[in-house]
Amino acid sequence: MPEGALLDGLLLDGLLVQCLQDASMERAMSFEQYFPQGIATGSSFLGREKETQKLIDNINSGRHTLLIAPRRYGKTSLIKHAIGLANISFAEIDLFLAIDGKAIENRVLSGIESLIQVFSDKPEQWMMTLVDYFRKARKKWTVGFKGVTLEIKPEAHDDIAANLLDAFNALEHILSIKEQRAVIFIDEFQEIGKISAGSAIEGAIRHFAQTSKYLVFIFSGSNRRILEDIFGSRTRPLYSLCQWITLQRLSSEIYLTYLRAIAKQTWAKVPDDNVLLRILELTECHPEATYGFCGYLWQYCAFEKKLLSVDTIQCAWDGYVAELVKRTKLALSELSPGQLKVLILLATGYKNALTGKDAQTKVGLTSPTIVHALSVLSAQDLIERMPEKDYRVIDPVIKATLVNYYTDYL
Ligand SMILES: Nc1ncnc2c1ncn2[C@@H]1O[C@H](COP(=O)(O)OP(=O)(O)O)[C@@H](O)[C@H]1O
Ligand SMILES: [Mg+2]
Repeated sequence: MPEGALLDGLLLDGLLVQCLQDASMERAMSFEQYFPQGIATGSSFLGREKETQKLIDNINSGRHTLLIAPRRYGKTSLIKHAIGLANISFAEIDLFLAIDGKAIENRVLSGIESLIQVFSDKPEQWMMTLVDYFRKARKKWTVGFKGVTLEIKPEAHDDIAANLLDAFNALEHILSIKEQRAVIFIDEFQEIGKISAGSAIEGAIRHFAQTSKYLVFIFSGSNRRILEDIFGSRTRPLYSLCQWITLQRLSSEIYLTYLRAIAKQTWAKVPDDNVLLRILELTECHPEATYGFCGYLWQYCAFEKKLLSVDTIQCAWDGYVAELVKRTKLALSELSPGQLKVLILLATGYKNALTGKDAQTKVGLTSPTIVHALSVLSAQDLIERMPEKDYRVIDPVIKATLVNYYTDYL
C-alpha cells in the first residue's frame, strides 16, 4: 500500500474515533443532564415539595434549620433549590476536612467576605462601613482588599470563637443597613464537633444566632450521629436552636414518572413499568445510586445498542457495581473483620435475630460484639434502622458489592 494511502487510512481512522468519541461525549453529556451526579437542578430535581416549602418558610421567617440525612441523599440539592426559589443571597461554607480551628476560621471568614461583597456595588463603601463598625465595637480587625476581593482579618487567632462572633456581627450590621436577609449554609458541620475549640465555636454561634434578625443559618452534614449530638443534647450550646428537617428517599412513584418521561425522550417508546421498576428495585431509590446507575444504564444501552429490558438492566447493574468496586472496597477498608461480617450478614438479607445464636455462629462473634459492631456501622452511616426495627445497608452499591464479592468472608 502506498505510504499516502496508509496515512489517509490512519487519518480517517483517527477522524472516525474522534467522531465516535464526540458522539459518546455528547450522549454522556445529555444523560448527565437527565441524571446529574452532582447537585440536582431544574427538571432533574424531583419531589421534596414539603421540605422545600419548610426551608423557604424558615428562611423567610428567620428560623435556622438543621438538615439531616445520610450522605448523598440530596441535602445540598434541596438547599440550593430552596435558596433559589426564595431568591435570597447566600454563602456556602464547606467544613469538609477543616481539621483545626484556624481552618474553620478561614472558611467561615471567606464565606462572610463573599456575602458582604454580594451587597457591595461599591466595595470601598463597605470597607469604610466595616472599618467604622470594628472601630466602634473596639475590635482590632484589618479590612482591605486581596486582589479584587474584600478581606477582613482579625488581629490574633488565639480566640477563634470570639473572631467568628465579631465577623458574624459585622455581617449582620451590613445586612441591617440594607434591611435584607441572607443565608449562611454550613455543610459538614460535624467537623466543628471534632476540634478542641469546637464547643466555644458552638457557643459563639448560639450567642449570635439566637438574636440575629437578618442572617439565617442552615446547618447540614454527613455524620448524623455527631450532628444529632451537637444539636440535640441538652447540655450543648446549639440545643434547640434550629428546626430539624430530615430527608428520606424519594418514592418509587416519583422516580417512575420521571423515568417514563426520560425513556420516552430517549427511545420514543416507553418501556413497561415492570422494567422501569426493576431499576428502582436495584437502586432502592437511593438518590445517588439511582441517578448514578441510570446514567450508566442509558449509556450502556446506547453503546451496546440494546433496548431497556430486565436482562439489560441486570447486566448493566453488575457492570456498574464492578466499575465502582475499587471505590467501594476502599470505603469498607476501615472496618474491622467483625464489623465487615455483620455488614455482609445484613447485605445478604439475613432475617433471623442479629444477636441470636445462629447469627453469632455465622459471624463467629459474641452477642455484645455484634451489638457494638451495629453501633459502629450506624455511626458511620453504613446501616440504618428501619421503622420496623430491621437494619438495612444504606447504599445499594455497597450492598451489591458485599453480595457479589465478599460472601466467602463469612
Ligand atoms: N430532589 C432530587 N431528585 C432527584 N435526584 C436528586 C435530588 N436531590 C439530589 N439528587 C441526586 O442525589 C445525588 C446526591 O445529591 P447531593 O445534593 O449532592 O446530596 P448530599 O448533599 O446529601 O450529599 C446526586 O446525584 C443528585 O443529582
Ligand atoms: Mg452535599
